[in-house]
Amino acid sequence: MPCTPTLPAQTPPAVPGARMWGGRFASGPAPEMDRLNRSLPVDRRLWRQDVAGSRAWAAALGAAGVIDPTEAADLRSGLDAVEQRLDAWTDADWAAAEDEDVHTLVERLLGEEAGPVAGKLHTGRSRNDQVATDFRLWALEAAKGLEAGLRDLQAALVEQAQAHGDTVMPAYTHLQRAQPVSAAHWLLSHAYPLERDRARLTDALHRVSVLPLGSGAIAGCPFPVDRVLLKESLGFRAISGNSVDAVADRDWVAELLFVMSMAGVHLSRLAEDLILFATSEFGFVRLSDRFSTGSSLMPQKRNPDAMELARGKAGRLIGELAGFLALLKGLPSGYNKDLQEDKSALFAAFDALGDVLPAVAGTVRSMEIDAGRCAAAVDSAMLATDVADFLERRGVPFREAHGAVGKLVRAAEGMGCPLSALPRELFVQVSAEFADADLEAMFDARASIEARAAAGGTSPASVQAQIAELNAPLL
Ligand code: ARG
Repeated sequence: MPCTPTLPAQTPPAVPGARMWGGRFASGPAPEMDRLNRSLPVDRRLWRQDVAGSRAWAAALGAAGVIDPTEAADLRSGLDAVEQRLDAWTDADWAAAEDEDVHTLVERLLGEEAGPVAGKLHTGRSRNDQVATDFRLWALEAAKGLEAGLRDLQAALVEQAQAHGDTVMPAYTHLQRAQPVSAAHWLLSHAYPLERDRARLTDALHRVSVLPLGSGAIAGCPFPVDRVLLKESLGFRAISGNSVDAVADRDWVAELLFVMSMAGVHLSRLAEDLILFATSEFGFVRLSDRFSTGSSLMPQKRNPDAMELARGKAGRLIGELAGFLALLKGLPSGYNKDLQEDKSALFAAFDALGDVLPAVAGTVRSMEIDAGRCAAAVDSAMLATDVADFLERRGVPFREAHGAVGKLVRAAEGMGCPLSALPRELFVQVSAEFADADLEAMFDARASIEARAAAGGTSPASVQAQIAELNAPLL
């Protein structure tokens, strides 16, 4: 059948606002479709990156001779004007904008500022490589705040450790009193994981810093734009190697979600320790008024809400990671609209950690560690290992020593007295080596701490080395 040589009449969209793809449609989207499809309320956070990416793209088109120098200059000044306008936008302005997403918004405003030349900006570019570029730029910037937040919490832990090298407290395994440690050693045990979180973040950013722009919708760009110059002007480390991959690669989003989930889990574990240690039963720490809340009913209450929220947010972070991996797993190659959900996932994770990190750092910095309560919780049974170690130093095989001290522990339990209060005869009964032993010195928690001087242990020298190791990258 021959084609009838007429063009269809252009129907106005059902929902007003700029649309990039009206040409082949007889009608605009239904309001229900528009509500689902529109991402501006979420991706408005990318507007600065969208303007920056557009500026770089206009320059690249100019340099390649795809548009003439005057057009490139007009696009540039138009984008500057758009930037100034958006900078002044209030929440009400954003709420009033009916554009589909941040990309269509910026292009519409560019049209208002620069006139018809705005229609040339999208030459050789697709929203697929555009959004991937904007989002990476945003994440690279946001990561700086995350890094600073992790660093500040580490610094708060190290500061408290420096003040509590002499505070003796129980260390727990299975939440049962195990062995004495210095409070500094416990505090630093929460600073080391954050060091790994920062290292993981740096490593992930290496892969985030890859430029997708110039990949087009999927097959690549048919115009001779210099992608290396483009990468340099936008501050990326490298350019993507395959356009099909580049528009769909969100590995980096999943990686950042993991890095943030892991950090969230670390904060949650620290929070759990503090919640526990702030109870009347433990009483090792007192959280400051500024990071506690009261009860609307019970006047005596002093609740560790900040720590509970830190623990709770970790669950949300893990949820974002699990949800996003589920989103990715069945996608066919190339861009699919499912990927639009990436922004809300990553934004939510950054927001959650952005709220939690400063509150946890503030809690740690302002809390008081009660050295008396900590020391009082160290009972002499916690030195049972040291008693066994005494026998080993005398050549008794460890298994035998363990059995001998076990009998003493049982006897003390039976008599309802501390291990250290057992009469010497009982010690000598389980091993003759105890005949001339300085039992008092054996039950000295500080001596026990000092003895653990192998690197990584709780001795004061080891703790100093830990502080130096952690401080070096923080300074
Ligand atoms: N708003 C979209 C997103 O965030 C932009 C990309 C749209 N691409 C498309 N082919 N419809 O993913």
